[in-house]
Amino acid sequence: MSKPLEGIKIIDFTHVQAGPACTQLLAWYGADVIKVERPGAGDVTRSQLRDIPGVDALYFTMLNSNKRSLTLDTKTPEGKEILTKLIKESDVLVENFGPGALDRMGFTWEHIKELNPGMIVASVKGFSDGHHYEDLKVYENVAQCAGGAASTTGFDDGPPTVSAAALGDSNTGMHLAIGILTALRARDTTGKGQKVAVSMQDSVLNLCRVKLRDQQRLDRVGYLEEYPQYPHGTFSDVVPRGGNAGGGGQPGWVLKCKGWETDPNAYIYFTIQGHAWAPICRAIGKEEWIDDPAYTTAQARQDKIFDIFGTIEEWLKDKTKFEAVDILRKFDIPCAPVLTMKELANDPSLRASGTIVEVDHKERGTYLTVGSPIKFSDLKPEVKASPLLGEHTDEILESMGYSQQQIKDFHERRVV
Ligand code: COA
Repeated sequence: MSKPLEGIKIIDFTHVQAGPACTQLLAWYGADVIKVERPGAGDVTRSQLRDIPGVDALYFTMLNSNKRSLTLDTKTPEGKEILTKLIKESDVLVENFGPGALDRMGFTWEHIKELNPGMIVASVKGFSDGHHYEDLKVYENVAQCAGGAASTTGFDDGPPTVSAAALGDSNTGMHLAIGILTALRARDTTGKGQKVAVSMQDSVLNLCRVKLRDQQRLDRVGYLEEYPQYPHGTFSDVVPRGGNAGGGGQPGWVLKCKGWETDPNAYIYFTIQGHAWAPICRAIGKEEWIDDPAYTTAQARQDKIFDIFGTIEEWLKDKTKFEAVDILRKFDIPCAPVLTMKELANDPSLRASGTIVEVDHKERGTYLTVGSPIKFSDLKPEVKASPLLGEHTDEILESMGYSQQQIKDFHERRVV
């Protein structure tokens, strides 16, 4: 099966998570992704949080599958020459260096454009160009704090909290992938490349859109009825942390199930969808609430919402999270068990769909990774192992026209 992005050559100058997550996605869909790494060291994640001594860490293998690795010291004259040649024959260059690093290397956008007018240069930075923090280096949690996620996550009586989900890193990479595909589409008609820039702050904020919605509602009416602070607590003039409240118009909360005393994940998420009130009452054996005016509307229920959740927890106390969901699904109630990483790793549905994939790696044996979360009717992405450091250096240089002797010299002088 030919892959949609076959024929697109990408210089992958990325490291850590945000950039690699983007280029990995494009590699799954057929792009030739050449990861350019510093000789002898490579992406820092190769050695970070290692679980097997001397072997590429899972942090690296899970973000760099389906790529080729070229080692290249781009600060040497020969390294710059090789990169220049590579730029002339590639479609996209993706980078997430600290601010100004690519320019300091001598590859400004203007220069790259001169070398290859069709080139798309895609960058991740912590903050957008011209932002008053544009000079800052940024990691995941810094972005979550700068993008509004931390101030709105957690419980009212606790500190700002970061999410385990990589809102700053992988999320920014996904935004960048959309930007690259858009620029490729534009190039189809104009023949011209362009610069695509995504900041981690902006990408986090984009996912916190509903919190900006809430700030404006709060400014206007002084309270937010779906937050646990309403109606019995107080609001300040900023969007508070909402605990586990539902973010839309349906109240929801994480509820205890059988075994919660010893199992920290014996919980389900339960949503009280307005039009599902009667089925909820039937499911939990509270038929008398169906027509009781004290409960029939969302507004009537609001001031006793936590008592209602308490009643549902009473019903849940002799049911495991899985048993509870199996009952509630019959009543069409939006809910799910709180799943652990262990449960997800072994979930047969996720294995069958290719979302959890087992990959064979030359040095570490098999490991699990997350495969393509996007499913296509005419494409089944195959997740292949990440490359060893410099695994494809010689074959890439050869394909660029360098002789065996030149390649040997590059190795000896540590250019590659
Ligand atoms: N050959 C020679 N030099 C190379 C090289 C190569 N193949 N690859 C990288 N380098 C150099 C860069 O040119 C840069 O040199 P300079 O600072 O002397 O100009 C140097 O390596 C370090 O780059 P930098 O990206 O600043 O690394 P860092 O470890 O100090 O910072 C981050 C790491 C992630 C904080 C920073 O890259 C950053 O803020 N990136 C943007 C936001 C981002 O993506 N954050 C991470 C999300 S996971």
